[in-house]
Amino acid sequence: MSLFSRRRLSAIIFAALFFFLFLSFRSLNSRDLSSTYSYPATDGSQQIGTGDSGYWARYIPHYPPSSLRPLPRGKPSALPKVQTTFKTESPTDREVRLKRQAAVKDVFLRCWDSYRSKAWLSDELSPITGQKRGHFGGWGATLVDSLDTLWIMGLRREFEEAVTAAATISFKTTNLNEISVFETNIRYLGGFLSAYDLSGDRRLLQKAKEVGDMLYVAFDTPNRMPVTRWDIHGSARHQMQMADAHVLLAEIGSFSLEFIRLSLVTNDPKWFDAVQRITELLHDQQNSTQLPGMWPVIVNARNEKFGDHYDYTLGAMADSAYEYLPKTYALMGGLLPEYKEMYEVSMNTAIQHNIFRPLVPDSKDILISGTASVRGKDDEHHVRLRPEGQHLGCFTGGMLALGGKLVQNQTHVETGAKLTDGCVWAYKVSPLGIMPETFYTVPCESKEHCPWDENKWMDGVLEISGLGSNNANGNNGVTRDDVQAFIKKKNIPKGFTYVPDGRYILRPEAIESVFILYRITGRKDLLESAWDMFTAIEENTRTELASSALADVMVEKNPPKSDSMESFWFGETLKYFYLVFGETDALSLDEWVFNTEAHPLKRLLPA
Ligand SMILES: *[C@@H]1O[C@H](CO)[C@@H](O)[C@H](O)[C@H]1NC(C)=O
Ligand SMILES: *[C@@H]1O[C@H](CO)[C@@H](O)[C@H](O)[C@H]1NC(C)=O
Repeated sequence: MSLFSRRRLSAIIFAALFFFLFLSFRSLNSRDLSSTYSYPATDGSQQIGTGDSGYWARYIPHYPPSSLRPLPRGKPSALPKVQTTFKTESPTDREVRLKRQAAVKDVFLRCWDSYRSKAWLSDELSPITGQKRGHFGGWGATLVDSLDTLWIMGLRREFEEAVTAAATISFKTTNLNEISVFETNIRYLGGFLSAYDLSGDRRLLQKAKEVGDMLYVAFDTPNRMPVTRWDIHGSARHQMQMADAHVLLAEIGSFSLEFIRLSLVTNDPKWFDAVQRITELLHDQQNSTQLPGMWPVIVNARNEKFGDHYDYTLGAMADSAYEYLPKTYALMGGLLPEYKEMYEVSMNTAIQHNIFRPLVPDSKDILISGTASVRGKDDEHHVRLRPEGQHLGCFTGGMLALGGKLVQNQTHVETGAKLTDGCVWAYKVSPLGIMPETFYTVPCESKEHCPWDENKWMDGVLEISGLGSNNANGNNGVTRDDVQAFIKKKNIPKGFTYVPDGRYILRPEAIESVFILYRITGRKDLLESAWDMFTAIEENTRTELASSALADVMVEKNPPKSDSMESFWFGETLKYFYLVFGETDALSLDEWVFNTEAHPLKRLLPA
């Protein structure tokens, strides 16, 4: 469908909505009336503009799999306990905690109301100008990403309204040329599955299946490896397609939670089969990459060589491929032991080569996860560390704490705690109390001993800043005073050496790890850190309508805003803030596992 006719369809939908509003506004309360329009309450039978819900299910594959791997049989086991046993809380602590939780909910509702009145059913609301945005297929990314958060926050009327609206989304086509299969999987499929697992509303299962049927078409290639940036219109014309030779690890390695859960709830093994083919390749090649134990950020899905590139990281472009290993093991109650093995083997390597201790004031015992580059050939492997902290990389703390509990490795739990403390530290020392997208540090030689040394830090700033670079031998002629002036001008906190990307785009990874670590340890300081993070974010990102990404957090005050509010603000960031101040048995990590978009899925548990 062309962009034009899609708009015309929207106009018809909106006209229908206004009509329904006039019929039903008397039954709505004041919050509803503050919005421009609303859906009537419905049991799902009055769907508007449903589109063709069976469209992708009828697609006839060019390369059907010759056989399907069956879903694992057998009884799930009781895996080791993840959550700590919490002590009873004092009435004062409880009061403070609940006040904080209510503050998070207020922010969510404020943003939700604006989305609802100004950008309903579009992907995003621009939080300053109030425009609609459609970068994620135009299928209502914010709406779908928010469903489970609405449920979790007890907003049942809003949830019902949102589900009714979501049931009308047509996945038959899109206004984009190309679809990110990864983003569609984690946001839409994850969003529907989670809301279904929480509420049991079968309209959500139907939508999950529709998205799953669509994504499954991206796997219709000669070797059944997915096209990760997918030409959906080509597939609608039944064109043949091949997997790409350059694919990001995260984009090919992060299907397992959603696809396996979808196979379980539909009892159809096709999605399980699709993801296991990828997992088998990852497993078989894990020890023969340039950095054995890990996979590079770029892999070749066309010729199935997953070990030829040089950069290895747990951060951007790789992240959730690692995150999904322990989580899939948990999802399946141990029925897929290869995920446990792959997790342990990869973390052995990452702890050795990626995770480092930065040189910071007070010699704080914290860790950061950086990028390892392999240079040189076979017998003379040279692994070089790039000591860069990334906001995206902040999920590693939660992953290792969770994974460590599941496989009973205390080293992982402690490493996860120090990685989380590293992100909390980065928030605390940043001028506004918000960590930037990326920063560099001076790595210590040893994880055990790293005394603060101001001169060493300034040398690090000099080296990376390029200050001395127009001199023949580096720092020639650059004085300490020059370095000091540079640090002052750029607002670089002690411990950082450089900030290549000073944005904060409402990302969740730091609070995600704080939440997980809190549930695992019960450490009360984490609640205080969470509150500091929340207040800093809320005060600096607030707009008249909602909350906005910041273009630069390395300023003393009034950070410039960039008029963007991605759906993960609703789906992840505010959900984790809400949960960390909530009851500790709500969505227990012993019963649920969160996908990389913070959508909780039910774990298989022994009967
Ligand atoms: C990779 O090596 C580790 C030992 O370092 C071993 O435990 C694991 O089974 C190996 N994986 C494969 C697929 O051979
Ligand atoms: C725990 O993890 C560390 C780091 O990966 C590893 O060296 C150690 O062998 C693991 N311990 C066990 C009991 O597996």
